[in-house]
Amino acid sequence: MEVFADALAMVTALRPEEPVYCLRPKVLKDAAAQFVQAFPGTVMYAVKCNDHPEVLAGLQAGGLTDFDVASLSEIEAAAALPGARSHYMHPVKNRQAVTLAYHRFGIRTFALDHEEELAKILAVTGEARDLTLVLRVDMPRFDSVCDLTGKFGAEAAAAPGLLRRIAASGNRAGLTFHVGSQCLDPGAYESALAICGGILAEAAVPVPVIDVGGGFPTAYVGTEPPPLAAYVAAIQAGAARLPADPGRALFCEPGRALVAEACSLVVKVEFRRGHRLYLNDGAYGSLADMKLFGTVYPVRLLRPGGAGRRMATFSLFGPTCDSYDSLPGGSSLPEDVREGDWIEFGQIGAYSNVLQTRFNGFEARRFVAVADDALRPVSARAA
Ligand SMILES: Cc1ncc(COP(=O)(O)O)c(C=O)c1O
Repeated sequence: MEVFADALAMVTALRPEEPVYCLRPKVLKDAAAQFVQAFPGTVMYAVKCNDHPEVLAGLQAGGLTDFDVASLSEIEAAAALPGARSHYMHPVKNRQAVTLAYHRFGIRTFALDHEEELAKILAVTGEARDLTLVLRVDMPRFDSVCDLTGKFGAEAAAAPGLLRRIAASGNRAGLTFHVGSQCLDPGAYESALAICGGILAEAAVPVPVIDVGGGFPTAYVGTEPPPLAAYVAAIQAGAARLPADPGRALFCEPGRALVAEACSLVVKVEFRRGHRLYLNDGAYGSLADMKLFGTVYPVRLLRPGGAGRRMATFSLFGPTCDSYDSLPGGSSLPEDVREGDWIEFGQIGAYSNVLQTRFNGFEARRFVAVADDALRPVSARAA
């Protein structure tokens, strides 16, 4: 990857016509190291969040060794890293993918949320006895921006029976949930663990793995989540109230919190119409999360030679022919922004490159490395 001092140096040198992701390897490495250090168990990175090879390698450089994968393509991405351990945490898996995961890639941890999936895993692994089978349970909606209820997860009432079936198969049982992505309330993990406690008590079989999933947040404009330490404290408090099991191990599956800060995206202004800016990336591309969840990224104008200081609010539009491709909210940029300028969006490492559709042939493929600090939102607490 080419390396630049910062995004402005990159646009000065490359004058890019296509959107460019700026990866900050040190920010990524530090985020991984901090999370691994803070979490009292195994941290599995949720590859779905950003599967770029340099992102996976950067997390590994920070001491992360385990990966939550959901497809064959993600398994292959993680397998390219020396020594990486993958865990297949999708509750509904393709039969051929399970076969390859077990026999070719040596994966031994699988999630499930229904009996047929348990039967499938046991059948394709030849009734294996060396598995960790992690039951996903559905949860009520917590204070999370992205709701993950209602699609995956056994109902709490069905969970004890499924745990007993797993234990009877001779494999190690686990229990997992997802509180929703960008979870703003640490107490959600404590509540979810209390529900797990009821399930464990009723199941009355050993369940040595508790996986608290993802959901750990990052800061966006207008959102200042509690620190990671508050989430860890809530998880520890919740885990301490579970029925005792001296051999119990904690797992988690963070995505967003590990990678959001480490990437920014540089887009080009193709056209200005009043206070409307037409960009070369948008809602069908790297900025999908803005449209889907109202995510507000910090922005700054990049113009070699400098821009004006007076600010104004602009509406942003993506490049495709579709009116859906308009971005919510207004962005504060220098009043003199014009065609040919570049705009940098910070905090965009999560759910950006992986959500691109290529609609109308627009796609951001280029990654470069930059050496400056992350472009973060200005903290209201600090202001
Ligand atoms: C099973 C599972 N684990 C982990 C994650 C990562 O979640 P987050 O990015 O909120 O940490 C997701 C996201 O959808 C998920 O579905």
